[in-house]
Amino acid sequence: MNNNLSLGGFFGLELKRYLPLYKDVTQFHLARQAVYWVVKQKQWKVLWLPYYICPEVTNWLAKIPVKLAFYSLKPSFELTSFPALDKQSGLLWINYFGIHSEYQQTLFKNVPKKQCIIDNCQALFSPPLPNTATVYSPRKFVGVSDGAWLTGNIDQQLVNSLPQASSWSTCGYLLKRLDLGPEPAFTDYQQHEKQLDQAPLQRMSILTDTLLHSIDYTDILHRREDNFDFWHQRLQAINNIIIPKPVCPALSYPLLVDTPKLKSYLLKHRVYIPTYWPGLDVSVLPPFEKTLMSNLCCLPMDQRYSKPDLEKIYQLLVEFGL
Ligand SMILES: Cc1ncc(COP(=O)(O)O)c(C=O)c1O
Repeated sequence: MNNNLSLGGFFGLELKRYLPLYKDVTQFHLARQAVYWVVKQKQWKVLWLPYYICPEVTNWLAKIPVKLAFYSLKPSFELTSFPALDKQSGLLWINYFGIHSEYQQTLFKNVPKKQCIIDNCQALFSPPLPNTATVYSPRKFVGVSDGAWLTGNIDQQLVNSLPQASSWSTCGYLLKRLDLGPEPAFTDYQQHEKQLDQAPLQRMSILTDTLLHSIDYTDILHRREDNFDFWHQRLQAINNIIIPKPVCPALSYPLLVDTPKLKSYLLKHRVYIPTYWPGLDVSVLPPFEKTLMSNLCCLPMDQRYSKPDLEKIYQLLVEFGL
């Protein structure tokens, strides 16, 4: 018996415990902190990033003396060209929407694995590759309030010396959404995300780790694949984004059409579409990235939904005139 274990008393939440999605992950409070950690440990002098990136990541990188350089994307989301990297430079690549996993082969032909960071924050189900720094942000896919996984050759001891986050007081919006619905909880969610911008470098909380273990990822993966295929069958002909794989456990279905008003139309009908990324300075973006900011409509297709739900959204698209 573990002598430190308390026995009896009141209950906490009762949660299932499944196998983890990935073994040997290092846990952080946030993915931006995991990226920061890798760049700091590698002591790169220059880091290449896409222009189209979550600004919270670049804000964290501003805390270390690394020069940031930016690359642009083709409409296929491939790099327009690979920068020439010396040994003291790195490149962060984003698996946008989780649909570009195959492109890693091309990436590694041009950039040594050791000099890459794979940002799988939008690609929870794209498995990490050996000896490659890979970052995940599970809260984009499941109901947790924070948390990140990092894989690759990470000095776990060093990470263990970081303070541990606690999430009990910040995850209220998850309970509120469950209890009252999305609209009453939306402001709480926004405030929570704002608070995360102030969070110090920490390890993942016990609560988030426990919640992440309580999830049946296989079920989620299959539901997402089916739902992605639903959209692909109906929208591939009009989508300006070429989808590499029709069946994919993606983040969402990225639809790019020439209709900036689509998002607000869906919003009016309580279909909520995220914007990637509100804090980006549009004036410095290349043309394709600018178009993404204004016209990209990432359609829901996650595990909460099945065919009749998606059918309802599809009818809205038809009524809108797509
Ligand atoms: C592609 C990508 N990378 C990194 C991040 C940062 O993740 P976190 O909020 O866990 O720091 C985000 C957040 O939106 C993201 O979309």
